[in-house]
Amino acid sequence: MSEIEERLTELERLGLGRRLRLISGPQGPTVLLEGRPVLLLCSNNYLGLADHPRVREAAADAAMRWGVGAGASRLVSGTMTIHRRLEERLAAFKGSEACLLFGSGYLANLGVIGALAGRGDTIFSDELNHASIVDGCRLSRAEVVVYRHRDVEHLEWSLHRHAGGRDGQARRLIVSDSVFSMDGDVAPLSEIAEVARDYGARTVIDEAHAIGNLGPDGRGAVAEAGLEDEIDVVIGTLGKALGSYGAYACASTEIVRYLVNTARSLIFSTAPAPPAVAGALAALDLLQERPHRVQRLRSNARVLRAALAAEGFPVAESDMHIVPLIIGEERAAMRLCQEAIERGVFAQAIRPPTVPSGTSRLRLTTMASHTPAELRMAAGVFGNLARKLGLDPASMTAPPIERRIATETAPDEFAAFARGTSYEAAEAAAAVPFDLERDGGRSREPVTAMAGSSAPFDLEREISSARAA
Ligand SMILES: Cc1ncc(COP(=O)(O)O)c(C=O)c1O
Repeated sequence: MSEIEERLTELERLGLGRRLRLISGPQGPTVLLEGRPVLLLCSNNYLGLADHPRVREAAADAAMRWGVGAGASRLVSGTMTIHRRLEERLAAFKGSEACLLFGSGYLANLGVIGALAGRGDTIFSDELNHASIVDGCRLSRAEVVVYRHRDVEHLEWSLHRHAGGRDGQARRLIVSDSVFSMDGDVAPLSEIAEVARDYGARTVIDEAHAIGNLGPDGRGAVAEAGLEDEIDVVIGTLGKALGSYGAYACASTEIVRYLVNTARSLIFSTAPAPPAVAGALAALDLLQERPHRVQRLRSNARVLRAALAAEGFPVAESDMHIVPLIIGEERAAMRLCQEAIERGVFAQAIRPPTVPSGTSRLRLTTMASHTPAELRMAAGVFGNLARKLGLDPASMTAPPIERRIATETAPDEFAAFARGTSYEAAEAAAAVPFDLERDGGRSREPVTAMAGSSAPFDLEREISSARAA
């Protein structure tokens, strides 16, 4: 048996094996999954625009007018009028001076983070940030400080600890998802902007799951918080609510000029394909003409959440469209997923390394194009199945964050800081002051202790934690 085959066998044994599931036809509220009609409850096609006739037509027309591929990177000969048109539209929509398209959200995070922080600089990153942010942080070669999920006190304390840098010249960058992809909660954006201002740090916010879904006219969580002029770079993808493929970074004209000169994933990758760009433009038109789609998404989220709560799942009453049902163990999550498919509901099981070990889940997502009856039916399927499989719906909640990051105990110094004690008194009170260098395994290297969507795949770690469990 080859070493690769051995590893694949081990992954299967641990319930961590993955395979590609095949969908026939376009992405709609119901799809044909390997020949079986199912309600699609795990797509990011939130507004149902990926298969909208106007979006399809726009992409088809663009293929005829501009061709299928851009043929070169943006800086060589790949920047076409259709790119410029979407950039202008997105900048106006997001209320920014300028906008720059990237090939995907993954590439945008890599390019923007790497351009704004490098060796000698410090990045402050939420522990549950998306893997593309984590990879951007790692590639940048900056020092990375991971703060506890949505914990602005921890962020502020970390900024305080890293105040100096080289003669105060080192750049500091705070990076966060606005809506967290696996939990559907929202970053405390106003507080992040405030501490960024106080500590002279730049901010990058990833609106992948917020654009089209939240805020006035679906303009995102940054717009909802009234922070368009405060956040330095707002990143978003065209691949989710906007139904296409590609991504954008909205920022000042100066920062966009800088990104054009320095963002490696922009410079060294082919420009977005004209049909995808035109499709996103049509989706943006639809979003602006028919904002009721956003309301429909929100009300569908409320319907699904209420129906799940009635089945006994600990689902918060809210209108957030990402609804995690946290099962815990990998194989149990896979079993629930498979049995639900057999009953006509498709919600992919999400396991480590996408989520922290012990929090495998079904990540349910609503779409504006679902009907309330479909969502109630799905909740009933999950309720019945959970009971049949001996899973207690009431226990399907995320373990408290302290348990997820059990290796990081808050140092006395931080506890005192959080209570409002002065830094100096806190440091004096701590028997062994918290040392970020020493503690780097946790605070600087999210990859081992902080797990979450942050963690790149580490087979050895997955295997040993699955064995320990
Ligand atoms: C928060 C976040 N950022 C970035 C991305 C990557 O976007 P794209 O799919 O356009 O590469 C995703 C995709 O899952 C995401 O959830």
